[in-house]
Amino acid sequence: MSLQLGDTAPNFKAVTTLGEIDFYEYLGDSWGVLLSHPGDFTPVCTTEIGRTAQLNEEFKKRNAKVLVVSVDSVEDHHGWIKDINEVANTVVDFPLIADKGRVVSELYNMIHPNASATATVRSVFIIGPDKKVKLVLTYPAAIGRNFQEILRALDALQLSSKYSISTPVDWKKGEDVIVANSISDSEAEKKFPKGVRTVKSYLRYTAQPDLQ
Ligand code: BEZ
Repeated sequence: MSLQLGDTAPNFKAVTTLGEIDFYEYLGDSWGVLLSHPGDFTPVCTTEIGRTAQLNEEFKKRNAKVLVVSVDSVEDHHGWIKDINEVANTVVDFPLIADKGRVVSELYNMIHPNASATATVRSVFIIGPDKKVKLVLTYPAAIGRNFQEILRALDALQLSSKYSISTPVDWKKGEDVIVANSISDSEAEKKFPKGVRTVKSYLRYTAQPDLQ
């Protein structure tokens, strides 16, 4: 059974490029972004992990820790990181999990046998500080993910966890958000001093509250 939104993200211990970790201890009170990829020394994965490293300061600003997993060895990960750093002109400073025993891949259902019997697909799990699964994405091996979208979704998740709001179609950081329907008009005026714009009784916008 696949992990679903709201489920507790399972803990695990794993060998990584930063040494052995306990997932929960590593995350502490941070958000987690757990990414799987099909394999080391492959082209799409090289571009993806390079972009993740280039964006890692953005993840850190959002109190999020990135972890990457595939079924390769830690020796392969170390060798591949050199290539990634060179190709993307960056420094990979987050852990790559060596999941040769498929412990993490199976816990998180990252191997989809009808796509590949042996390799992990491109999964994304965003995990909240409460260790609950907040977002799941699954892409096939041939299709690289959009890491701006992952950051955008993280911003939206963090806002909606802090305020009674949701985010509209194509929302980007800084744009207006939607007031939750559980909030009355009078409550909304108090909670959102920047003002509330009512389009329909069930569609009310307000300026994005502060994120950090
Ligand atoms: C890649 O990263 O380019 C890739 C890996 C496995 C299958 C297809 C593409």
